[in-house]
Amino acid sequence: MAPCTEEWNQRGKVFKNFEKLPESWDCQYDQLYLVRKPARGPRMDPINLLPYLPQAKWSPGPGDQGWHAMLCQVRKESQKCTRRKSLLKVRVMDFVTSTAILPLLFGCVGIFGVFKLLQWIRMKAYLRNAVVVVTGATSGLGRECARVFYSAGAKLVLCGRNREALEELTKELASLATKVQTHKPYMVTFDLADPGAIAAATAEILQCFGHVDVLINNAGISYRGAIVDTTTDVDKKVMETNYFGPVALTKALLPSMIKRRQGHIVAISSVQGKISIPFRSAYAASKHATQAFFDCLRAEMEQYEIEVTVISPGYIHTNLSLNAVTADGSTYGVMDKTTAQGRSPAEVARDVLAAVGKKKKDVILADLLPSLAIYLRTLAPGLFFRLMASRARKERKSKNS
Ligand SMILES: NC(=O)c1ccc[n+]([C@@H]2O[C@H](COP(=O)([O-])OP(=O)(O)OC[C@H]3O[C@@H](n4cnc5c(N)ncnc54)[C@H](OP(=O)(O)O)[C@@H]3O)[C@@H](O)[C@H]2O)c1
Repeated sequence: MAPCTEEWNQRGKVFKNFEKLPESWDCQYDQLYLVRKPARGPRMDPINLLPYLPQAKWSPGPGDQGWHAMLCQVRKESQKCTRRKSLLKVRVMDFVTSTAILPLLFGCVGIFGVFKLLQWIRMKAYLRNAVVVVTGATSGLGRECARVFYSAGAKLVLCGRNREALEELTKELASLATKVQTHKPYMVTFDLADPGAIAAATAEILQCFGHVDVLINNAGISYRGAIVDTTTDVDKKVMETNYFGPVALTKALLPSMIKRRQGHIVAISSVQGKISIPFRSAYAASKHATQAFFDCLRAEMEQYEIEVTVISPGYIHTNLSLNAVTADGSTYGVMDKTTAQGRSPAEVARDVLAAVGKKKKDVILADLLPSLAIYLRTLAPGLFFRLMASRARKERKSKNS
């Protein structure tokens, strides 16, 4: 049977070499179309065949210079109504592609651009002259947060344990070239892990500019060790620094924010506040507690219009692992490969600025793998636990070898 129907000749651009249908082909299909298909890659359906495709039967045809011919057979009775529909579809497609789509596309891009611009202007206005307190400003992410918020025109209160490092940072900030009017930062030194120091520090912070708009709870300490070897004092030290200290400072500053019905609390948590990895128990526990506390705070503060943002970064290239505490309380003193390969603190600080400016509620600043791990922990906990157990085995083995 020769397949050259009229329809075929109109569309059969490829089919010229095909003489006979294979015998196995079903002849109750009386419309035959040839469609070119690259040897590798998707089928290229002619647009006017699309309406028939649900009823079509596909069979592989002969090869043609790297193309596979495909025969599409369409049942006779299904054609009349589908042809009318097809005409309509083609007209709609023509209309969309010719007249409507381009203005629509430009319109959407324009609206999106204007929206982004307004968001940017609002963000700049929100942060300019805002009183921003940064804890752990002496190093790493805190230091970079100080730089970006200072450059955005914020009035800074820099907190840390090391007065000299804070003074050095203040000098560095003064030498920054900025586009907006800047303000000389204040410095407040105290140890977050000392519960007795919080009240005096809060009073000093409030004296600087009279109020606080944004508190960035950034200071933190990491930990490396096996649970069985770790003293409870070490667990407490990590919890005091990463959890009880920030919680106490936040609670101490809240009344003044509630009174003004204005304020923004930021908690720098970690991906390890969402998933726990072996040999980081105290750190992961402190960050899980941080996430939980500030999630509760967000809900409770909504009535006072106080914002709460929890930021969970992945690895950042800072001194965190060098300063980490070990099972016996000594300093770890090693720059971990993962930390060394982490994101630059300046980049993360810019993301923190954007998250605060946009009043985001919960932000994960991590690569694909940690982000996937967070979903895996929720969707397939069994698999996640097996992966973590295998990681623990490998880490133990590499330590023993
Ligand atoms: N680096 C990462 O891979 C990573 C990933 C996720 C989350 N984070 C989080 O990011 C935050 C900043 O850490 P970082 O990476 O910038 O580490 P970092 O360079 O070690 O900085 C930690 C900061 O916290 C301060 N700090 C530590 N203990 C303190 C205490 N008891 N009282 C007051 N300040 C104290 C340190 O001050 P001193 O100079 O006085 O020690 C330092 O300024 C932490 O909350 C950390 O958990 C880091």
